Amino acid sequence: MAEATGWMEDDSQKFIELGDLVVPSRYEQARLICDLIPASPGDHFMGVDIGCGEGLLSKTILERFPEAQMTLLDGSEAMLTRAAENLGEYAYQIDLRQFDLKQTDWLDELPRRFRCIVSSLAIHHLDDAGKQALYQALFDHLAPGGVMLIADLVHPPNEQIAEAWANEWDRDVREQSLARTGSLHAFDQFQNGWNHYRTPDVEFDKPSLLLDQLQWLEEIGFSGVGCFWLRAGHAVFGGYRPPTNRD
Ligand SMILES: C[S@@+](CC[C@H](N)C(=O)[O-])C[C@H]1O[C@@H](n2cnc3c(N)ncnc32)[C@H](O)[C@@H]1O
Repeated sequence: MAEATGWMEDDSQKFIELGDLVVPSRYEQARLICDLIPASPGDHFMGVDIGCGEGLLSKTILERFPEAQMTLLDGSEAMLTRAAENLGEYAYQIDLRQFDLKQTDWLDELPRRFRCIVSSLAIHHLDDAGKQALYQALFDHLAPGGVMLIADLVHPPNEQIAEAWANEWDRDVREQSLARTGSLHAFDQFQNGWNHYRTPDVEFDKPSLLLDQLQWLEEIGFSGVGCFWLRAGHAVFGGYRPPTNRD
């Protein structure tokens, strides 16, 4: 992956190793995202996963909607290789593409009628203006009635909230480490600068206020805009492209 993107292949390796332990309720978030996709299990539709990492969210979507076609975008070769392995049984239903989130060329090459656009823990690398421009472009790529769902870090409205989210995130990682590995090894690694709400890396991570993002979505024309889940500063939010009169 290009150094200019800020995310290095080393980061990919660490996230592949620790993702299940350091993301609060990762599979609960993915299940909720599936519940919010406007489709029945047998529907044929197209979806895209922006910053797909090793493809776990797309895999959950394909398990729920086995006829879907997913485009998976990521900047990291290691992540895309891993996604191809994890989604081996869906090889004919996935299109893996390398992209740079900070550029816009990739948007021109995407189909325009996605039933679902999803993204987990990637868009916070863009600043406010970058996110607004991206949400507008993605709205144009949604089919009428389709949904955009973002699972991501959001900016704390004040210091007290930042502290509460930092503590909650620490507690979650501690519990998940113990429950799944029987040790605190992952928690100890997490303590080494991973908790954005305790030690923000503002050059690299630029979460925006949740309320601002919801307002941008409303202004763009999304309907049913809301935050559907929030824990330790990790929100699942988004909105639907209104159906046209012909739908
Ligand atoms: C924290 S991981 C999340 C991966 C996956 N969505 C998940 O939730 O498990 C962030 C992902 O965003 C990708 N990423 C970060 N910055 C990027 C950029 N500028 N362009 C493309 N991908 C980027 C990384 O390669 C990585 O796979």
